[in-house]
Amino acid sequence: MTSKMKAKERILQWARPEIIALKPYQSARQEFVSNGREMILLDANENPFNSTVNRYPDPMQNKLKSRIAEAKGIDSNQIFLGNGSDEVLNQLMLVFCKPGKDKAILLPPTFGMYQVCADINGVETLAVPLTKNFQLDVEAILAAQDKHTKMIFIPSPNNPTGNCFEREDVIAILEGFKGLVVLDEAYVEFAAKYSCIDLLEQYSNLVVVQTFSKAQGMAGVRLGMSFAHRQIIDLMNKVKAPYNINTLTQELVLKRLEEQGVVQQEVHQILLEKERLLIELPAISFIKTIYPSHANFFLIKVDKSKQRYNQLIERGIVVRNPSKNLNCANTLRITVGTTEENNALISALRTMDI
Ligand SMILES: Cc1ncc(COP(=O)(O)O)c(C=O)c1O
Repeated sequence: MTSKMKAKERILQWARPEIIALKPYQSARQEFVSNGREMILLDANENPFNSTVNRYPDPMQNKLKSRIAEAKGIDSNQIFLGNGSDEVLNQLMLVFCKPGKDKAILLPPTFGMYQVCADINGVETLAVPLTKNFQLDVEAILAAQDKHTKMIFIPSPNNPTGNCFEREDVIAILEGFKGLVVLDEAYVEFAAKYSCIDLLEQYSNLVVVQTFSKAQGMAGVRLGMSFAHRQIIDLMNKVKAPYNINTLTQELVLKRLEEQGVVQQEVHQILLEKERLLIELPAISFIKTIYPSHANFFLIKVDKSKQRYNQLIERGIVVRNPSKNLNCANTLRITVGTTEENNALISALRTMDI
């Protein structure tokens, strides 16, 4: 068996048999080939009068995917697009974890949606805490797996802690984990050199998830992406809603892809503002620790997180209180805003520091 064949076989062994057997819904626009010809569309019961969105969107998002493929240096057929990463993450679990039988490994403190997806899909989770420095405990992770652990979710940069994980540790997990490794790079534009997207070529058990919600400045359009071996993408396409990415999203994201210079400038500005906050915040006496961050937010330890959270709300500033997460007692997670917003934050913190 060639290694290509082996990868395909291995992926099919992980997937739920009912998904492999599933006959997906065939949408009207997938049943013919137009070869660029202008067609009269009487197939989908749409209103024929042009409202700019009276037609269904391209169900496979071909134009958008080929543009993303170009930008990421991968093949179009290695891309699955979802209604935000939230949909992508849920879809991955749906395809690969048998309810009531398979398990997923989570690494607390971690992004809350993984547990929600697991609960929705009836999938048991095993928690392998990060180390004291919020790094991967590779040995414990690999020791925790059994024949039912199908997936592990690794957000890097991590939410809520903000730090990236070491590339060697990610590789050690890719080598030793016997299921899918979902590397959630939602904030990767803020730490581009940490991206592991290049490892896709080597590891067929890697799924890289990215989003247009953070650095790309498009949280409102809801576009999440996953990049993986073609076999994984084929299975995800089988279970997706026929028109899961709407026309406006496809158009706006295509436009944003042509504006990456602007995005880079914004990322640069956010990182400069982050540096400024990191200079200002240590002067606030109730801030005990500022954890290292590779993202557009950082986690701070304070004296009393609930009180400080409420005081900020009173001053018109909303941050996140992730204190209920493992090893995050009395912490707040603060997103870097505009210069004006950050000035308001610093002033508010100073008025609380008495
Ligand atoms: C690590 C991580 N992954 C995924 C998401 C969700 O992103 P999306 O807006 O694409 O659903 C978030 C949002 O906060 C996140 O922090």
